Amino acid sequence: MLTGAGISAESGLRTFRAADGLWEDHRIEDVASPQGYARDPALVHKFYNARRAALADVKPNAAHRALAEFEKRFAGEDFLLVTQNIDDLHERAGSRRLLHMHGQLRQARCAGCGKQVEVDDDLSPDSRCRSCRRGFLRPHVVWFGEMPLYMDEITAALEKCSLFIAIGTSGQVYPAAGFVRIASGCGAYCIEANLENSAVSDGFNECRRGPATEIVAKLLAEIG
Ligand code: APR
Repeated sequence: MLTGAGISAESGLRTFRAADGLWEDHRIEDVASPQGYARDPALVHKFYNARRAALADVKPNAAHRALAEFEKRFAGEDFLLVTQNIDDLHERAGSRRLLHMHGQLRQARCAGCGKQVEVDDDLSPDSRCRSCRRGFLRPHVVWFGEMPLYMDEITAALEKCSLFIAIGTSGQVYPAAGFVRIASGCGAYCIEANLENSAVSDGFNECRRGPATEIVAKLLAEIG
């Protein structure tokens, strides 16, 4: 399973590719690129501090819960949920076999020693790593031009899965947009659940259209 910003939309978190091309009123390249961070680390920290604080005001919705239930009921070792989302709504809904391929808002990483730490408080350009005491902490978020996380594990899962479902993702950002081609090329049945057509809809065997809170639970109930 692959999820994107669309699954969290009905919890109240804005998706990325709104018509104005902005993410929470910022140009994406200013707040989600290494160049933007190098130019203005204070702005980038302020931006992610606000996103992290906003997690307190949102809750998992029926689609997050349906995925967690599905994992509990059937899936065990044979199930993997990969999310592009940096929010924590999947884990709060109870998902366990979960990989955040674009990082997590509630984690930071030392730019010096690479150590990852949990963060609940605000970060600033002066926040130092408590482990090496030298490096500065940056958001543990994959920005444009950076390598997504867990790609070996994800590719292995795509190559052996029999069913691949993508939920709430526009199919505009690779490598996630290419997952359907890998899975279908290895024989998986592929289903897309999204509000509207994505950039890669034609690669799926089946497309379900509608809000995630309405279509995901129904789809998963049909599967098993
Ligand atoms: N239910 C289902 N789908 C929805 C809903 C909803 N309630 N609301 C929106 N969508 C769909 C939109 O139609 C769109 O196709 O979710 C998709 C969201 O697309 P994006 O905003 O592009 O989000 P995503 O695909 O997750 O973005 C991928 O891009 O900026 C980077 O790293 C960031 O992880 C992000 C990546």
